Amino acid sequence: MKHFLSATAIGLSLALAPSLATAKTAFQFENVNLPSGKHLTVLIDSDGNLTGKAAEVDSLSGGRLSEAIESADFKGKFGETRTFYGLRPYTSLTVIGMGEKSLDAPKLHDLGGYIAKASNNDVSIEVVSETVNTNIDAVTANFAAGYALGSYTFKKYKTDHEETDRTVKFIGSDATQSTQLYNDDLAHLVKGVTFARDMGTEPGKSMYPELFAQRVRDMFRGVPNVRVEVLDLRDLARNNMGALIGVGQGSVHDPRLILVHYTGGAGGDAPIALVGKGITFDTGGISIKPNTGQWLMKSDLSGAAAVAGTLYATAKRGETINVVGVMSMAENMPSGKAIRPGDVLETMSGKTIEVMSTDAEGRLVLSDAVTYVQEKHDPSLLIDIATLTGSVGRALGTDYAGVMTREWALSEEMMKIGESVGEPVWPLPLNKSHYKAIKSDIADIKSTGGSPGASIGGAVIGTFVDEDRPWVHLDIAGVDWLTSGTPTSPKGHAGWGVRFMDGVIRDRAEK
Ligand code: BES
Ligand code: ZN
Ligand code: MN
Repeated sequence: MKHFLSATAIGLSLALAPSLATAKTAFQFENVNLPSGKHLTVLIDSDGNLTGKAAEVDSLSGGRLSEAIESADFKGKFGETRTFYGLRPYTSLTVIGMGEKSLDAPKLHDLGGYIAKASNNDVSIEVVSETVNTNIDAVTANFAAGYALGSYTFKKYKTDHEETDRTVKFIGSDATQSTQLYNDDLAHLVKGVTFARDMGTEPGKSMYPELFAQRVRDMFRGVPNVRVEVLDLRDLARNNMGALIGVGQGSVHDPRLILVHYTGGAGGDAPIALVGKGITFDTGGISIKPNTGQWLMKSDLSGAAAVAGTLYATAKRGETINVVGVMSMAENMPSGKAIRPGDVLETMSGKTIEVMSTDAEGRLVLSDAVTYVQEKHDPSLLIDIATLTGSVGRALGTDYAGVMTREWALSEEMMKIGESVGEPVWPLPLNKSHYKAIKSDIADIKSTGGSPGASIGGAVIGTFVDEDRPWVHLDIAGVDWLTSGTPTSPKGHAGWGVRFMDGVIRDRAEK
């Protein structure tokens, strides 16, 4: 024990002192002003027409903007971007196409991402955007959200970069509404996603259960109607959480169960429970992973990170609903104290699990977490979210997260919400055969066996979810990390799930 302590102490004393300054982007929303800035972005429709304020910009440039658009053969396809320099009085004029279809919220966010990408390093840009084909209110607030999401960076460990603050002014026809929607709502959603991305990008050395809990506490300090509760190893033992303890016992860093209680709804109303897998590093344990890509397992806490981010967005905008977020945190390491393949763990529920592979650790930490939240909080809907299996990525690729439920209607509801927020999900089967495949010879169930792997993972967790409880299992192992970026997610950790679960909460709060 002494040995472990001193090793940790050395690790801490050698810790990098990263620069913590982060650049800020200020968004302003204006109605009537004629753009006066040097760097201007103009949105145009698929006919290439410059209307309204954009037409005024054109005439200020002496008609040279429309000439440039024509000679560049710019068609105005969705997301098509061109920057023209030196069309006086502007230093740069960027034109972005809106396509011909009516734009939903995710498309508006994408346009915001394109605006960010085109703005390069300009510290002050103006965006002319008052004629947009959409049914969504507060268009420019949605652009701002997309802009903020698309310009995410993680510069903490870069020693040679300079941070510059930016101002982005949106000139539309919805300034009051957009200012309100952005400041009171979307800014919090953006911060929730940013938090999740930060957590998933942070190296394992500097993100273990105790530190994750610290970051969650810091994040929620002073947020009304929120209480953060952290169960340490002794609390976990008191609750007989043998599965979570088992997964964490190979590491020098103890596991934690973190709960964020948000009580924005009526007292006594059953909460929605969001339960996230929080493996701060997944080596595979004794069933150790091959070297290739192992570094990526620093992001195996994506589910927990998304839960924290969602709770933040929900609480900060003051949604009238009760939500409990649960983060099941452990580091999966091989060591002389680690669990072995073949070991049997006793869970909080009393059921026993035979560990077939110590690399199937996510289902173990989630089994105790779902038991705990059901016993203590009796949720009306339980969603668990986890980077659970490589199998889901092979089945669905990077466009869809896998969703498993016991009722088709619930899967359909989730598909609809996913489409509407830009984080789509696709159903995978979960039926009797998957439960049969995890029968164990010596324990109640075994942790792996049979196929497809994503469904087997779902069945293990489902074993611990009450039969009649509305339950959604999300396997996000295919979508949480992007090797190439999208307009709203730069390559790297996507923070997948904040927008999705936030969408579920909005939907349920309305009902
Ligand atoms: N964290 C991994 C799943 C994963 C794989 C996430 C790739 C992101 C990218 C999980 O703990 C795991 O190791 N799953 C195993 C399960 C198997 C042992 C049944 C897998 O998918 O191979
Ligand atoms: Zn894992
Ligand atoms: Mn694993």
